[in-house]
Amino acid sequence: MGSPLSANMLSLYQIETRAGHGTVLCPRTPVPSAQQSCSLVQQSPGTISFDFINMASEIQQAHMSEFARRLSCTSDCPPRSPTLPHPQHNQHPQHDQQTKETPMASPRILFLAGSARKTSFNKTLARAAAQIASDMGADATCLDMADYPLPLFCEDLEAEQGIPEHALKLKKMFIQANGFILCCPEYNGSITPLLKNTIDWLSRPNEGEAPLACFKGKVAGLMAASPGSLGGLRGLVHVRAILSGIGTLVIPEQIALTNAANAFAPDGSLADDTQQQRATKVVTQVVEIAQRLHRND
Ligand SMILES: Cc1cc2nc3c(=O)[nH]c(=O)nc-3n(C[C@H](O)[C@H](O)[C@H](O)COP(=O)(O)O)c2cc1C
Repeated sequence: MGSPLSANMLSLYQIETRAGHGTVLCPRTPVPSAQQSCSLVQQSPGTISFDFINMASEIQQAHMSEFARRLSCTSDCPPRSPTLPHPQHNQHPQHDQQTKETPMASPRILFLAGSARKTSFNKTLARAAAQIASDMGADATCLDMADYPLPLFCEDLEAEQGIPEHALKLKKMFIQANGFILCCPEYNGSITPLLKNTIDWLSRPNEGEAPLACFKGKVAGLMAASPGSLGGLRGLVHVRAILSGIGTLVIPEQIALTNAANAFAPDGSLADDTQQQRATKVVTQVVEIAQRLHRND
């Protein structure tokens, strides 16, 4: 299950993903109509469950219904073989055979740190995560926000000058991506201004685009690294809420890496095996869900 919640704050929606079904079942408890956030909390064959934390609104329920529809199999979409070849399965002829028989495009996943700092721990974490995804066979692109400087968002500036070139480039990449992983430094218990500003610019509509095209219908994973003892955990709560509110499916697995100065091996991977496994879990879920969401694209 996801984070601990009092009973009256929790509603569990089950989404049946068996062939031919894509149903959001009724919540067990009344859903307060406040701001919303949700996360995928369980994944077992055929079933995906979502936690609605204090907040499911009609918009959020619509997002979830859409995710349910796209995650479900229908007669138009027969069950496919397992997704990407697992790194540990690459040598097995059976898996090679399956991959050959059902070729599927590699999901496009972006990796982005909410810090432009040259020696940013979160950039290092983003690169480590991108490497894991790449090893799995995903199309992984790691972005450095230092390459995309953006002015502080202001509606007057937008009206006068339009969306800045760097934001347009980022928007294009996000729209083409099937999912993304954000590595989020924590500033004063919350999201960094750089990351919030980037999300705000990317959320702005451009001609011919669907609303929130960078975020809606995408799957995201969250990570954080900090020299501190909570690893940036508090900031992730806010990033999760922001993304969930703009239509992104944020998986429940996340990493908050403490003592970041000592967390990385010389090759850029995570020094601690348990943390490397946690990172692999986040990346694997994002890649696999991205692939299921976008299999008919
Ligand atoms: C304005 C500011 C506020 C910060 N607040 C927090 C905080 O609330 N929690 C925390 O763990 N670290 C905090 N830090 C320390 C950052 O975690 C640290 O600078 C980290 O290295 C930033 O991420 P980066 O290495 O990816 O740039 C803060 C740093 C700054 C500059």
